[in-house]
Order: sequence, then structure tokens, then C-alpha cells
Amino acid sequence: MIIAVDGPAASGKGTLAAGLARHYGLPQLDTGLLYRAVGRAVAGLEDTPGFEAAAIAAARSIDTGHLDPLALSTAEVGVLASKVAVIAEVRAALFDFQRQFALQPGGAVLDGRDIGTKIAPDADVKLFIQADSKSRMERRARQLEGRGVVVDRYALYHQIEQRDARDMANPNGGFYPAADAHLLDTTLLDIEAALRAAVAIVDGVMARKGQH
Ligand code: CDP
Repeated sequence: MIIAVDGPAASGKGTLAAGLARHYGLPQLDTGLLYRAVGRAVAGLEDTPGFEAAAIAAARSIDTGHLDPLALSTAEVGVLASKVAVIAEVRAALFDFQRQFALQPGGAVLDGRDIGTKIAPDADVKLFIQADSKSRMERRARQLEGRGVVVDRYALYHQIEQRDARDMANPNGGFYPAADAHLLDTTLLDIEAALRAAVAIVDGVMARKGQH
């Protein structure tokens, strides 16, 4: 079974995807880490003419076995990720790894922005996670604070809004709910309630397909 989990910045899709992976015993891929790793590799080059070529080279040589989620989790790396994510060749270089991960025997859970639309349009279940931008900022702030980072909430809110705007305008993106995606608004749900709601959707879809 392939489960696609998409949604905007800090919508809780990573936590939900991890919970779904545990619940169904499936491997999980946080595809945002790939873009974050490429972004981090070109930090400092943003305003130089070599930025695009460096990002493409970084995407082509990315070491998917050694992605460090902690080092990649900062808001600044998130902004860099959204800058490299608009480059078509970067997306193309990262495509095969994600596609193969989705197609592994037994299936997988992938979370990102374009899983249901581009990476696995054939996914069995597609979830599109939403939450209002203030609660997304607050969740991300607490997540970063839990790691000892001092958070400026005003700056974080601004970064999330900017990243959403860049992502939504991404001409090479596919950052919209697939026609067959199930929308799940987690604004008023805690982690457990959101996971229960997601499991109910997945079970419902698989039961209708008669193969759970
Ligand atoms: O965790 P959060 O939602 O803040 O971000 P992320 O999933 O780690 O993604 C970071 C950035 O990578 C996004 O803002 C997108 O610009 C890009 N991305 C993408 O283009 N396609 C994906 N499948 C996943 C992330």
C-alpha cells in the first residue's frame, strides 16, 4: 500500500506520516529532507550567478543514505529548500529516488508537497493536510524549542508565509491536492486525534477497495 501525505509548511504531515508508517508497518520517506539537503549544500550562494548550477549538481550527487534530520530542520534551511525546489532539474534529479522508494515491495508512506500529484499519482491513499498558518507556526515553534532553539515567532510566521507563497507559485511544483486526495484539517486536532482521523480515512479507502 502506498500512502501519500502532502500539505503546506509545518502542517503536521511529517508527524502524521511517521504515525501512519508505524501503524501500518511501512517504511517512511520525508521528501522535504531531500530538498533541505540540497538547500543546505548551496547556503551562501543564493545571490550568486552560480546558484542554480550548484543546486543541480548538489541534487545529482545527494547522499540519500546520510540525511541528518536535525541539522536540516532549521527554518533557514527550509527557506533555502523552497528556493532550490523551483528548479526543474533539481526536482528531476530527486524524482527517481522518491519513485523507487514508493514502489518498493509492500509499499511505503511518503510525505511532501507533490507526492499525490507527481511522485506517486498511483498511490492507494492520498491525504492532503491543512491547518491555519498561525497554528502551523506555533507547532513549528514548539518543535524547534523542544530542540533547544530560541524562536522568534514573528520571524517564523513570516518565513512560513513566504515559503508557502513560493511553494504555491512554483511552476514546477504540483503543490495542490490531487483530485482524489482526502483533505484533513488538523487545526483543532492534537497528534493522536489527527492520526486517528488519518487511519480512519486510510482504512475506509482500503475497505472500499476490498484489500485491507
Ligand atoms: O516540514 P516543512 O513542511 O516545513 O517543510 P519540508 O517538507 O521539509 O519541505 C521544505 C521545502 O522543500 C518546501 O517548502 C518545498 O519548497 C520543498 N519540497 C518540495 O518542493 N517537494 C517536496 N516533495 C517536499 C518539499
